[in-house]
Amino acid sequence: QQTVLTGITTTGIPHLGNYAGAIRPAIESSLRDSAKSSYFFMADYHALIKCQEPERVRESTLAIAATWLASGLDTDRVTFYRQSDIPEVTELSWILTCVAAKGLMNRAHAYKAAVQDNVENEAADPDKGITMGLFSYPILMAADILLFNATHVPVGKDQIQHLEMTRDIGQRFNHLFGETFTLPEAVVDENGMVLKGLDGRKMSKSYNNTIPLFEGEKKFRKLINKIVTNSLEPGEPKDPDNCTLFSIYAAFADAEAVAAMRRQYEEGIGWGEAKKQVFEHLNELLKDKREAYNELISDPAEIDRILKKGAERAREYAVPLMADVRKKVGIGPLA
Ligand code: TYM
Repeated sequence: QQTVLTGITTTGIPHLGNYAGAIRPAIESSLRDSAKSSYFFMADYHALIKCQEPERVRESTLAIAATWLASGLDTDRVTFYRQSDIPEVTELSWILTCVAAKGLMNRAHAYKAAVQDNVENEAADPDKGITMGLFSYPILMAADILLFNATHVPVGKDQIQHLEMTRDIGQRFNHLFGETFTLPEAVVDENGMVLKGLDGRKMSKSYNNTIPLFEGEKKFRKLINKIVTNSLEPGEPKDPDNCTLFSIYAAFADAEAVAAMRRQYEEGIGWGEAKKQVFEHLNELLKDKREAYNELISDPAEIDRILKKGAERAREYAVPLMADVRKKVGIGPLA
């Protein structure tokens, strides 16, 4: 029995890259095999580590939840919830904090990168501006995963180290207190879609090069028109394999359509025409979902209701597991 679990930090508005790289494959996997249980959640406690703007966290939580739902997530098959609705996550996180080695956290990429920044900027203190939340971020993530005994965690390459740390912490707990947690595996799609953004670098909010998944039609067209190309004229053959526009199209079209576009490139389609076709294809593909998304975000109370229901279901698993953990570590009722 597989348990698949993954989360998205609630600090931004989903873009084409999040969708093609994380949301779409997760939904497809959840629909493929009904014996498998899936847990997908909004990591809003993780958001607090890098964002102290409450309005932004709220807006992002709503946008990410609505994106999953508008993209065809079936809440009857998937346990879909908000991390902060599960108090057992923070409780387990503390217990794991008391088990995790500090030296292990010292090696976490996110923490090391922040220290490195301080050193490069010649800050007086290498830990300047670094919160304990950032430092122990991998422990919170381990709690997310171990609390549901997840077996498979689909993530991008940037998260692999966190999964290794999760296994390390889980193993240490099992060793100290007896077999309790399943050690999860990261599932990284090797030809994993790392979608490129407007400027040809990886599509990412931190590069400011994203195309929001459910941007309104007019702005969406404008953004597609802004994707960098080169100065080849119509009639000159173009190289689809080194082309951001083509790779975006390929992430959203079937094999036959991709082959047809490839031929058009070789025959020298003009950039204006290629962009028009990419826009039309994507717009057609997304427009019903966009409409559903807009309806969903206009009713946050309904989203809350859906997430609460998901949290109740998640807690059916989490509460007994936490009771076992408490007992194993020696806290709770004496009799
Ligand atoms: P986050 O919110 O940064 O990213 C969510 C997921 O999307 C992947 N990703 C990408 N994949 C392909 N192409 C891209 N351009 C791209 N950008 C982002 C990320 O690798 C990730 O899988 N710590 C996690 C959230 C989290 C979590 C968890 C994940 C909290 N608890 C438990 C799994 C299990 C994070 O910040 O992801």
